Amino acid sequence: MSTSRRAVIASAAAAGLTAATVGGAHAHGHGGSGGGGRGPRRETFGRLDDGTEVHRWSLERGGTRLKVLSYGGVVQSLEIPDRHGRYANVSLGFADLGSYVSDSPYFGALIGRYGNRIARGRFTLDGTEYQLPVNDGPNSLHGGDQGFDKRVWDVTPSGPAALTLTYTSPDGEMGYPGTLSVTVTYTLTDDGDFRIDYEATTDAPTVVNLTNHTYFNLSGEGSGSIENHELTVAASRYTPVDDTLIPTGELASVAGTPFDFRRPKAVGADLRAGAEQILIAQGFDHNLVLDKGITRRPEHAITLYDPASGRQMDIATTEPGVQFYSGNFQDGTLTGTSGRTYRQSDALCLETQHFPDSPNQPEFPSTVLRPGETYRSTTVHSFSAR
Ligand code: BGC
Repeated sequence: MSTSRRAVIASAAAAGLTAATVGGAHAHGHGGSGGGGRGPRRETFGRLDDGTEVHRWSLERGGTRLKVLSYGGVVQSLEIPDRHGRYANVSLGFADLGSYVSDSPYFGALIGRYGNRIARGRFTLDGTEYQLPVNDGPNSLHGGDQGFDKRVWDVTPSGPAALTLTYTSPDGEMGYPGTLSVTVTYTLTDDGDFRIDYEATTDAPTVVNLTNHTYFNLSGEGSGSIENHELTVAASRYTPVDDTLIPTGELASVAGTPFDFRRPKAVGADLRAGAEQILIAQGFDHNLVLDKGITRRPEHAITLYDPASGRQMDIATTEPGVQFYSGNFQDGTLTGTSGRTYRQSDALCLETQHFPDSPNQPEFPSTVLRPGETYRSTTVHSFSAR
């Protein structure tokens, strides 16, 4: 934990701010002990049309507070302190289940089987062509129209501030071959880091690319634009896209382009650059190629800092890429958790992942998973304030 992080937690405690009320009227303690002496707590969040009950789980540790839904594994709320110890929910979301079911642009959700786009929803594996549902122009996005973000996951507490989410995706679901058994673990560490571990196995060759689609605004959801947030990404290259946001296959240098975040740069600095790639996506919606490449252990690659609140998020990952999306398609039609509407650039996503359309791009790191292998991916979000 950084010195500033400790100072913030200490001052929050002095202000009585760590005495969070987690869970609601229907909260029940479930498993877990140690840390603050409270394990993950569960409450009813809503019911789907078919009667399935959806739960919201609340975790708190090391000064971080997290709320997770069994629906879509959604991060519904993520609260961290600012430089004065004041907490804010830094993730966009909704207050009710119905909005997640009908309106959500993947707020906080687990994405699978394939994060981001597959061109024309088509790929060939071992000589067989597979057709996926097309749900984004001519392409398949985020696992299709009923992806992992729309599934109810089995959630069990797996530590003082940890949840294990499991989902078994049947062979052929959303067009993908193989029965895919997925386990995702959400952990808050002693230091208040939010760690996500993904694992998957299959009974037939398939493709997998899992991620989490949290929209961050470090000043707090509903507080306005993230254009003043400073972003640093250790990525010397990015994957330019065609006019349907499919990578052209080129790994282009970021030097001299709006995609150069190798030194801290305000997100808004080049958002109106008039560059062709920015015009295509109406902002940033591109995969940055992390210089670290694929690593066995999560390595630091990304820093997001908000000068207004002093909140900082550092991201370490095992993944070779990150989809940087500047909330371009938010248009003021959705009302968020605290009742305020979300407009363009009111949040940004940093989706750690393999590159989009890898099943059709032989030069990209492979996303093929075969029986007997285990897909593993880890991303850690660390929080501090200065
Ligand atoms: C995609 C965007 C999309 C957003 C929400 C991002 O990962 O790259 O194009 O609009 O998710 O669906």
